[in-house]
Amino acid sequence: MRKIALLYGMENTFPPALIDRINSRGVDGVVAESLLTGGFRIDQPSPYRLIIDRISHDIPFYRAYLKNAILHGAHVINNPFWWSADDKIFNYAIGLKLGVAVPRTVMLPHHAHPPGTTPESMRNLQFPLNWEEIFDYLGFPMFMKPHLGGGWRNVFKVHNPEELYAAYARTGDLGMVLQESIEFTEYYRCYCIGRRNVHVMAYDPRYPHHERYRLDQDPTQSPLYGRIVSDSIALCEALSYDMNTVEFAVRDGVPYAIDYLNPAPDADRNSVGEANFDWILNAMADLAIERALSDEVPQADYHWARFLAGGEGRS
Ligand SMILES: Nc1ncnc2c1ncn2[C@@H]1O[C@H](COP(=O)(O)OP(=O)(O)O)[C@@H](O)[C@H]1O
Ligand SMILES: [Mg+2]
Repeated sequence: MRKIALLYGMENTFPPALIDRINSRGVDGVVAESLLTGGFRIDQPSPYRLIIDRISHDIPFYRAYLKNAILHGAHVINNPFWWSADDKIFNYAIGLKLGVAVPRTVMLPHHAHPPGTTPESMRNLQFPLNWEEIFDYLGFPMFMKPHLGGGWRNVFKVHNPEELYAAYARTGDLGMVLQESIEFTEYYRCYCIGRRNVHVMAYDPRYPHHERYRLDQDPTQSPLYGRIVSDSIALCEALSYDMNTVEFAVRDGVPYAIDYLNPAPDADRNSVGEANFDWILNAMADLAIERALSDEVPQADYHWARFLAGGEGRS
């Protein structure tokens, strides 16, 4: 039996519904369930063929569990090694290289010294920063947000240098991305599943959370629809995310990619709405079953895999 396991936290709607959706397909030899682990051993095969991870960004123990599970034969969505390494500034840089429109972006050093460091630890940093150059490049208004972050925490929109300095002073030892604000006429949030299956949703971040998904609009009618789909796939392929959301803000007919580091994207029935929820359940059920049935070795992508018994690296 090839088991698919869901690893999740406070979510109530998506994980149990996905388990039901997979099991209701009645595929021979495949079953989905909630993952269960205690302290885990490093020398045993994974009981699961595929694990869908919704929570390891908040629980480091689970991140360690997932890496070990890959070594022992499990596929994991999303790749926990890459998720640990990724950050927003690298995402924007990759996007630019891929030819996707991204806002002009600069990374700022931490405002405060990280705990345990002193001014000597900062010898390689220019001080003060050349703010004039940064302001000329980006222009106001700007967004400032953590390079490792999510859920709109510590996201600031600033309109002049005074607001910027005040916000920056509140960011402590976070690494902050500073970015031109895309003053948009439309905004889209896209599920991108299996690096190929894209569902574009009209989304307006100016509304309260529960009204952001604009269910009355049909994004497939937008002249930008094709570009949004292909940009989403290009980003998720390059970043190797099998479950992600990609957000675009449209200015002057150009979709700028704003946030595409969402490897456990919002999939709550109450926020995305029934039709979007049904789409994500089907797309994830299709992908999970395909991945669980595949005989592909999960470690193939990793440098260390070459050194495992039977590999070419160790003599
Ligand atoms: N450069 C930008 N231009 C316009 N809006 C932005 C920009 N950056 C962020 N935002 C707004 O702020 C929100 C939160 O930023 P985001 O990068 O998605 O951070 P988080 O990972 O915390 O969700 C976005 O959904 C968008 O509405
Ligand atoms: Mg976001």
